[in-house]
Amino acid sequence: VSDIFPLPLRRLGRTERLVTALGLGGAALNTGSYGRTYTEAESIACVRRALELGVTYFDTSPLYGDSERRIGLALDGWPRDRVFLATKTGTGTRPKDYSGEGTRRSVEESLRRLRTERLDLVQIHDPDDLSPALAPGGALDVLQRFKEEGVIGAIGLGVRSHEFLRTAIHHGAFDTILTYADFNLVRQTARETLFADARAHGVGIILGSPLLFGYLTNRPWEQVVAEHKDIEVSEDARRAREMREWAEARGVDIVALALQYCLRDQRVGVVLVGAGTPEEIEENVRAVTSDVPETVWAALKKEMGVE
Ligand SMILES: NC(=O)c1ccc[n+]([C@@H]2O[C@H](COP(=O)([O-])OP(=O)(O)OC[C@H]3O[C@@H](n4cnc5c(N)ncnc54)[C@H](OP(=O)(O)O)[C@@H]3O)[C@@H](O)[C@H]2O)c1
Repeated sequence: VSDIFPLPLRRLGRTERLVTALGLGGAALNTGSYGRTYTEAESIACVRRALELGVTYFDTSPLYGDSERRIGLALDGWPRDRVFLATKTGTGTRPKDYSGEGTRRSVEESLRRLRTERLDLVQIHDPDDLSPALAPGGALDVLQRFKEEGVIGAIGLGVRSHEFLRTAIHHGAFDTILTYADFNLVRQTARETLFADARAHGVGIILGSPLLFGYLTNRPWEQVVAEHKDIEVSEDARRAREMREWAEARGVDIVALALQYCLRDQRVGVVLVGAGTPEEIEENVRAVTSDVPETVWAALKKEMGVE
């Protein structure tokens, strides 16, 4: 650990909580519903390594297979107030369920699997239509009640649709938004449509998929493509490949470039990286805290048109 610098801390919007700028995304800590398959022991080792490296933010969802239970096991014995635990609701059942009753059940099951009495953040996850969640007696009402009771600390929305995220920003009841795959080295649309308004309303910004599902890593290209046949990123993938080649030609680590790029925008509260092993989270923490000279950012702007 000694050669890795401490992770910077950021305030997550009006939650007023200080969290590490890098958080561990729980999608990879499962039985293979996303990317590669990991054993329980590997996942636990990944979370424990993250804790040793000072990571305080952990994101998961009932959708991510065994992820919640594995995080719960890994955190057992660790002081609860030293971590920020974020999970989601609405997914993990078929069909998705944003009803009041379904939300109550989902939160209670998450508490049990995560072995905790309170959750720092619960996010309405991947709705195809916001109305059921926002309807009287629906998911949002139940989350607000849990918040009043102190069972949950904050309420968020995690979804790809910028329209839905904008509704959440202006609604007043949401403390955070989670946007993914739309602010990274190859695509910056979320910055244009969401960041200024979120900041103005005190809504914390959480970023997912900073490595574009693994495309912006040193992993062999063919391997990444084979792992993500289900993900529709053809144009973005082509651009990601150019980015990798550009970074390689300059001797810059693509993971450092990708993660630090997201964090250079000070409005971003936390960047979630989908590491699945101790080695990966270590590489990611190192990447965030390593030095990327200003000349590289200037060249990125000049040669790749990305700033
Ligand atoms: N709707 C939502 O709410 C939503 C949507 C997207 C993401 N998220 C959250 O954001 C988190 C991050 O998103 P993501 O998982 O898509 O992001 P990501 O970090 O952009 O990509 C994850 C992929 O990158 C690989 N990877 C990570 N670190 C690596 C390294 N150092 N070297 C090589 N490969 C590496 C992982 O490999 P392995 O598969 O081998 O681990 C995984 O395949 C998720 O885990 C989830 O918590 C939420």
